Amino acid sequence: GSVPVLIGLITWGVVSACPFHCVCRNLSESLSTLCADKGLLFVPPHVDRRTVELRLADNFITEVGGNDFVNMTGLVDLTLSRNTIHLIRPMAFADLESLRSLHLDGNRLTTLGPRDLAGLVNLQHLIVNNNQLTKVSVQAFDDFLLTLEDLDLSYNNLRRVPWESIQNMASLHTLNLDHNLIDHIAEGVFGELYKLARLDMTSNRLRTLPPDPLFTGAISPTPYNAVISLNFGGNPLHCNCELLWLRRLIRGDDMETCATPAHLAGRYFWSIPEEEFTCEPPLITRHTHKLWVLEGQRATLKCRAIGDPEPVVHWVSPDDRIIANSSRTSSFSNGTLDILVTVARDDGAYTCIAINAAGEATATVDLKIIPLPHRGGVDFNLAINVPVPTAISHQLASRGGWGWGGSTKGSVA
Ligand SMILES: *[C@@H]1O[C@H](CO)[C@@H](O)[C@H](O)[C@H]1NC(C)=O
Ligand SMILES: *[C@@H]1O[C@H](CO)[C@@H](O)[C@H](O)[C@H]1NC(C)=O
Ligand SMILES: *[C@@H]1O[C@H](CO)[C@@H](O)[C@H](O)[C@H]1NC(C)=O
Ligand SMILES: *[C@@H]1O[C@H](CO)[C@@H](O)[C@H](O)[C@H]1NC(C)=O
Repeated sequence: GSVPVLIGLITWGVVSACPFHCVCRNLSESLSTLCADKGLLFVPPHVDRRTVELRLADNFITEVGGNDFVNMTGLVDLTLSRNTIHLIRPMAFADLESLRSLHLDGNRLTTLGPRDLAGLVNLQHLIVNNNQLTKVSVQAFDDFLLTLEDLDLSYNNLRRVPWESIQNMASLHTLNLDHNLIDHIAEGVFGELYKLARLDMTSNRLRTLPPDPLFTGAISPTPYNAVISLNFGGNPLHCNCELLWLRRLIRGDDMETCATPAHLAGRYFWSIPEEEFTCEPPLITRHTHKLWVLEGQRATLKCRAIGDPEPVVHWVSPDDRIIANSSRTSSFSNGTLDILVTVARDDGAYTCIAINAAGEATATVDLKIIPLPHRGGVDFNLAINVPVPTAISHQLASRGGWGWGGSTKGSVA
């Protein structure tokens, strides 16, 4: 009858050495250890090291590492979803050279450190959505850059993702980064991800998207480029001329709206005519005109510019070179140039150049270096024409107490 057959099915493949509460099956010569939803507080120590599939979802495991997965060189599938894992000890998975799929979703991870995922040289699916990640190390994915097909980091608190490593994931097929706080996509990052078929960036903080061939493939399929699924709705897009390239691609559907500028707020991206994606060239509104500084003191030159997009300000020295940061000078993008300790040869006409996607504007600032009295004090007396004894002048200079009002400080006109 049917009863003996049923009993036969149940007993066949049941393994004797199995962690308490778990179910272990040796089907098709591959061992599965099934410990989901068993109230476990840690990974059971007596898992057969030959197991191929290990399911530990829906327990109360708080950390993994140590000997938990030691010698499990044949493990292919590891599920740790919906526990309370807040700590992965470095090298926790180091022996899992056959692992293809790692599920860590629904835990309490806040960081992925450089060695937390080390050793997973065959990993294809890494699922870490619904954690509390704020930081992912640039090295975290190093051991499986070329094998990974599926990366899910959605529903975390990431402001930044390691684009440097993502751009090298040559086998990547699906990338889920939705519902994070990402405000920046590195330019050209998708250029060599030829297998990418799905990118979800929904609900982040992107204001702009860099031009990328990926989007061209996503939006206007060519014979060489299959249609890929691309989502970036729910981002505060700033619809100016920098996004015109995207608007020019033909596309019908999707949910993207503009957040700024004010007159385009809330409007459906694909409904706005190209002519309305405009930029404003830079306009220098205020700048230092002339600055007198005593040799050796600090000079702060300022140049303030407006425009859309926000202009970046560079400074050009009197000998026509762009001023970079050095031990003596700091050039800030907001238009402030600091020369920490001026020397006589800093004297001259500086040019500030404000640049954005729509153009540039320039202004000239004269920096006058008042030479310090050199031994003998001759230069000094000639220079300022006030007969102060050299000894006193040195003392005053070192205190910055010349009493020349604001003339040694940067004055914005
Ligand atoms: C599973 O069964 C095969 C034979 O079907 C056997 O060779 C192997 O040792 C068993 N594995 C375990 C872990 O029991
Ligand atoms: C792992 O394998 C090594 C070498 O075979 C052995 O010495 C060690 O006891 C094993 N550890 C565990 C936890 O199985
Ligand atoms: C100089 O360094 C500051 C931060 O210290 C940075 O904001 C600025 O962009 C740097 N400027 C250049 C020209 O690299
Ligand atoms: C520009 O940035 C620098 C460094 O962050 C800051 O010290 C300076 O006050 C800023 N200048 C203006 C005009 O905002």
